[in-house]
Amino acid sequence: MKALILSGGKGTRLRPLTYTGAKQLVPVANKPILWYGIESLVAAGITDIGIIVSPETGGEIEAKTGSGAQFGAQITYIRQDSPDGLAHAVKIARPFLQDQPFVMYLGDNLIQDGLSEFVQTFTAKALDALILLKPVPNPTAFGVAEVDDDGRVLRLVEKPPDPPSNLALVGVYLFSAQVQAAIDQIQPSARGELEITDAIQQLIDSQQTVEAQTLGGWCLDTGKKDDLLEANRIILDEYLGPAQLKGEIDAASQVSGRVTLGAGSTLVNCTVRGPVIIGENCRLENCFVGAYSSIGSNVTLTDVEIDHSVVLQGATIVGINQRIVDSLIGQRARLTTAPQRPKALRFLVGDDSQIELA
Ligand code: TTP
Repeated sequence: MKALILSGGKGTRLRPLTYTGAKQLVPVANKPILWYGIESLVAAGITDIGIIVSPETGGEIEAKTGSGAQFGAQITYIRQDSPDGLAHAVKIARPFLQDQPFVMYLGDNLIQDGLSEFVQTFTAKALDALILLKPVPNPTAFGVAEVDDDGRVLRLVEKPPDPPSNLALVGVYLFSAQVQAAIDQIQPSARGELEITDAIQQLIDSQQTVEAQTLGGWCLDTGKKDDLLEANRIILDEYLGPAQLKGEIDAASQVSGRVTLGAGSTLVNCTVRGPVIIGENCRLENCFVGAYSSIGSNVTLTDVEIDHSVVLQGATIVGINQRIVDSLIGQRARLTTAPQRPKALRFLVGDDSQIELA
């Protein structure tokens, strides 16, 4: 079994961060989202992995993720010249996939459940497609499946005004080579993309076996700021290990709970309440860092209170006199302020941005 991770696309919903970088490389708990997907596939025994990349961000993804050796995988990068849809990505990956069954994984998704069970079901039943579903409170915003009592998928509908169920499609799919024939039958949708839902519907219509399983755990699409912060919260909550303090902490600082402080980082007169991860070579002075914050490497924070936020590498924040909450601060962003006290601040700041509150 092979895997195809879709890591191209436009990333419009995570602008301005995605003007300068791939959304799949935005870190959750200081690790690129994409890497969680790779690790999950490897954990299920799938090591032959193709990654779809765009011309704009492919170089960055490849430089950072490499040959796959660090994950125990072998990665092939496949360039998709324009983001013409999920099914289009599968189509251009034909030379890599050949006639093998594969797991298709959306590179900006995180799912808690291991994949082994799904792979076993798919293989044992010799299915043509196994789709994963998650009950959602607002099915009108998703691709929704109608499933019979035996788990057979009867119909898929995209953002239905009158949903047949509350079961939304999750960003992981298992396919046999039959999906390629189905993709050859479909036409671009109204938004000009070859849709994977249309390809699956085509499989159903041509009497192929398409089944669904419902996820037991959480599943997050990190393509938007609040979802990314939620993913960061969950990952820190569930996976951050016991305190690991490699940097220097002065006597005036207090560190409690599960806190990871990277090598070369310094805390001077700071309070840090875990779960919090701070990367390498950071300098924090006179700061409060509250739970569910991830601070990337080479970040400088001075006179800052920050909580439930993600700060990417190289950012500098100085003298913000109000607590920063629910914020995503891009790489190398600079936030500085004069000593007045504004009432509230909520940021989505792109890479290389500069904000001054004077
Ligand atoms: P989406 O989030 O549906 O699309 P997008 O990346 O264009 O994002 P936005 O809506 O913010 O503009 O894509 C899901 C995943 O699939 C994501 O990792 C990008 C990837 N993708 C491709 O690799 N090729 C494509 O043609 C498309 C549409 C998406």
